[in-house]
Amino acid sequence: MDIILLGPPGAGKGTQAGLLEGGHGMVQISTGDMLRAAKTANTELGQRVKAVMDSGELVSDEIVSNLIMEKLDDLGPDQGVIFDGYPRTEAQVYSLDEILTARNRKLHHVIELAVDVEALVERITGRFTCGNCGEGYHDTFKQPTKEGVCDVCGSTEFKRRPDDNEETVRTRMGEYRAKTQPILPIYEERGIVTKVDGMGSMDAVSNAIEAVLALD
Ligand code: AP5
Repeated sequence: MDIILLGPPGAGKGTQAGLLEGGHGMVQISTGDMLRAAKTANTELGQRVKAVMDSGELVSDEIVSNLIMEKLDDLGPDQGVIFDGYPRTEAQVYSLDEILTARNRKLHHVIELAVDVEALVERITGRFTCGNCGEGYHDTFKQPTKEGVCDVCGSTEFKRRPDDNEETVRTRMGEYRAKTQPILPIYEERGIVTKVDGMGSMDAVSNAIEAVLALD
């Protein structure tokens, strides 16, 4: 089963994709994570996208669609995937259609995480991750059980994203409103969109998504 998690920055796409990976053996495909990995490794791609990402704008459709193709070609045909942060523009929607058709794959669900955009600024500016294994935390909503020590790998190094400051978050929200929100009607017309309340607890959101998947 292939699904898309759609929502503005901080809606919880990455958090829920991680939970689905664990529970369903699906693979999370996050264009944001792939682009950040390229930045960290200082590859040619990383150097090209750094300034755009740090400003909060979207990188080109061609770059992200190429990343998606590479990732899918590494997976078996029966491996279900969760698209996290892709597609984000109308051009990416049609590009994904072609990519999936060429690989004999089908999109089953688009899950829209419905959220209060103002509350997201707090979610994003409080976010940090383990510098070693990447486990996600939050200053208010999810602190490590033992202060300063990652629950998963025991590392004591944590990091914050350079685009998680308030000014850049507002640019990212603007990009979402202008370029990503307009793709919803395309999927609504296909009858595959389910809206889930993204403002509940992480568990409540997860249960709501599970209920959607259980319908198959
Ligand atoms: P990307 O990495 O995709 O960032 P984003 O869409 O802005 O989304 P986030 O990762 O900020 O949020 P999320 O929804 O995953 O929330 P999370 O689960 O972390 O993209 C970054 C950049 O890359 C873009 O700006 C662009 O430049 C580029 N890019 C990426 N894809 C692209 C594409 N397709 N086309 C063009 N450019 C692209 O949760 C946030 C925080 O809230 C966490 O701390 C979490 O613990 C907490 N939290 C989560 N759920 C809950 C809850 N229910 N209650 C309380 N706290 C919660």
